Amino acid sequence: MQAKASRWIFAAIAYFLIAVCLGVFMGASHDHSLMSVHAHLNLLGWVSLTLIGVIYHLFPRAGESRLATVQFWLHNVALPPMMLALAFLLKGSTGAEPVIGITSIVILVSVFLFAGNVLVKRA
Ligand code: HEM
Ligand code: HEM
Repeated sequence: MQAKASRWIFAAIAYFLIAVCLGVFMGASHDHSLMSVHAHLNLLGWVSLTLIGVIYHLFPRAGESRLATVQFWLHNVALPPMMLALAFLLKGSTGAEPVIGITSIVILVSVFLFAGNVLVKRA
């Protein structure tokens, strides 16, 4: 696998481990209040990052570009504080909302960079 594509997979595995632990905890405790954290750790972490890694493996010119590195760090710097802030919000700390707003926008930017990167450097 392309070295730069594999970093997406390694990060995805880290989110998967945490998300599944949280899922089992939720099931065992019958406390599903953090469901959205579990869902988005799985979907923005495990699933999206795996897909991006595989897509960059298929489009190595895009995957090895500087833009892919910028996108990797934007996504992975934003997602952990977004999930932490969401957990606080779901537990009642409304003060966490601005953090979720800002980090969501960073992830949105990262997704647009991904789309543009693959479209421009797909050859
Ligand atoms: C051992 C593995 C897992 C356990 C024990 C687990 C457990 C749970 C639990 C207890 C809920 C809350 C259900 C509810 O309140 O209605 C939930 C929701 C959810 N889980 Fe998991 N989960 C696991 C793996 C996964 C994986 C791998 C994914 C995605 C790739 C995933 C995606 C979701 C989603 C999207 C929801 C929200 C569903 C909805 O909107 O009703 N889970 N999970
Ligand atoms: C920056 C990116 C994202 C933001 C800001 C976001 C935001 C949200 C919001 C506000 C909800 C409603 C939560 C509620 O009603 O309590 C939600 C639910 C959901 N989203 Fe996302 N989402 C994002 C990315 C994604 C992605 C990439 C996926 C799938 C690949 C996804 C799948 C889901 C699912 C399955 C639910 C229902 C389960 C839940 O309530 O947590 N989301 N999302």
